[in-house]
Amino acid sequence: MKTANTAPRPAAALLAAFAAFAIISPALRAQDGVTVDTSAPAITAAESPAARDARLAWWREAKFGLFIHWGTYSAYAGSYGGTRTYGEWIMHSAKIPVADYRAHAENFNPVSYDPVAWVRAAKAAGMRYIVITAKHHEGFALYPSDATDWDIADATPYKKDLLAPLVAAARAEGLKIGFYYSQAQDWVHVGGAKSRYPEGDGWDPAHKGDFDRYLREIAVPQTRELLTRYQPDIFWWDTPSYMTKERAAPLANLLKLRPGILTNNRLGGGFNGDTHTPEQFVPVTGYPGDWETCMTIGRNWGYNALDTNLKSSADLIRKLIDITSKGGNFLLNVSPTAEGLIPAGQLDRLAGVGAWLSQNGEAIYGTQAGPFNALSWGRATRRGERLYLHVTEWPADGKLRVPLLSGATSAHLLQNPGAKLALNAEASRLVIDVPATAPDPVATVIVLDLAAPPVVPPLVSRGAAVTATAEDPAAPATFANEGTGARRWRAPADVKTASLEFTLPAPATITGFGADEPDVWPRMKQTYTLAAEVDGTWRELSSGKTDGHGVTGRFAPVTATRFRMTLTCEKGAPGLAEFQLYQPE
Ligand code: GLC
Repeated sequence: MKTANTAPRPAAALLAAFAAFAIISPALRAQDGVTVDTSAPAITAAESPAARDARLAWWREAKFGLFIHWGTYSAYAGSYGGTRTYGEWIMHSAKIPVADYRAHAENFNPVSYDPVAWVRAAKAAGMRYIVITAKHHEGFALYPSDATDWDIADATPYKKDLLAPLVAAARAEGLKIGFYYSQAQDWVHVGGAKSRYPEGDGWDPAHKGDFDRYLREIAVPQTRELLTRYQPDIFWWDTPSYMTKERAAPLANLLKLRPGILTNNRLGGGFNGDTHTPEQFVPVTGYPGDWETCMTIGRNWGYNALDTNLKSSADLIRKLIDITSKGGNFLLNVSPTAEGLIPAGQLDRLAGVGAWLSQNGEAIYGTQAGPFNALSWGRATRRGERLYLHVTEWPADGKLRVPLLSGATSAHLLQNPGAKLALNAEASRLVIDVPATAPDPVATVIVLDLAAPPVVPPLVSRGAAVTATAEDPAAPATFANEGTGARRWRAPADVKTASLEFTLPAPATITGFGADEPDVWPRMKQTYTLAAEVDGTWRELSSGKTDGHGVTGRFAPVTATRFRMTLTCEKGAPGLAEFQLYQPE
């Protein structure tokens, strides 16, 4: 995907390619994170590339944002009737009747809400924008909406608008502010979509109603209210159940009320928006175009007191680096309580990321994807002819091997610009002498100034001949190593297990691999075995399960010409969007 010799592809083309092979049933589309119908033009089709670049400039610079999932679900804190359920999905998971759920909103009384403190926590974390759930799938509006009484003013004891003071605080602190809005799913208003239920239906007789009427009477007027009252910088749609082109068009048109607004790819109906939105994962090889990984610190988006297994700050810092090195943004979520407090553990993680960014922000903000296919010791970001090498596995011998064929002029630790590090150009790499121990055990940034635009060794797997034991004629094996990840190889529907076999032009030493699975629902959970043919027999290099997003692995060096990736898919036929073999640096 992101290789030195691959021109970036527009996100629209990527999505169209996914759409061509999508295996999404209408019912499961309710949870779909991807707009799969690309038959209609993007909302911004008429925009020139220069105008688009100008509109997205702040967002591309920003890299890191705060997602906030907050609603009356927060007042359940993850428990209902003794059952352990999902944060913001609690109403759906526990099939809570509408009347009960509405009554429970009296427990949503965020008297401790301090929007200035929230914005300052985001800013101290190094975040440059905020996206808050103005209305999630529960249908509840965090602001006084004229379209409903299912809102903060009419349904809770708190009564005051929650959005206006957050918008004001964000603007006062120089952060951009956006709204998440669940345009299709709405579990309280009559006719709103419910994932896994037929249109117009739900788990409660009170759900029965007309989806188009719901769109007309709730989604459209609320979108207009949010755009005109608060002038948000981002509109973040979600779960486009039943969103045809005709249904999505009025919502897309409303965005014109706010010139310059950015929007994501989850409106549905073929409106691609600006950003692709991988959810809860970092793509193995990256995506072309503008994309944003959204992720939780624990497991849930909405507050769940039982959700205490939090990612560490170090993990989150490395994820931010990983995402940035592939050209993406990171939208990291917090889950405030019904009292209006962001849990201490989550604040602690934000502070940890902020501490690292306050020292190393130059290597993140406004940078672009690094030029390398994969690095065993870390990641790289780029700003023009300066590379930032983010070293997470410090070299034991004090030599950092950089797979760079073109020249460099100097290197230094970002934290110590005065001390130049010695550089030695070897045949297929650059070797930088680094201190014996890692100055920062989480990630140490080395600045590498280039003499010319970077040239990196080509991916050996990209030039390989590839065959499959089974292939859908529309999704041939050759799609798996194009270097873009834009199209995928897929076995015919009735096949459970299939192999991809790569024959390199000449024997090569390989120490790792990366594979991306297509970003589709349901997730393609697969088991895999990677093997190489050594002295006439197949030797296993790596095996395991994928998580439905992709898989990457490292192993002891093996020199071979033929490699075989065998996959068995839990649901449906096996497939891969991209497969890469990595050589040592
Ligand atoms: C999903 C979930 C949702 C969450 C969102 C964030 O689509 O339905 O609860 O808000 O992802 O990306």
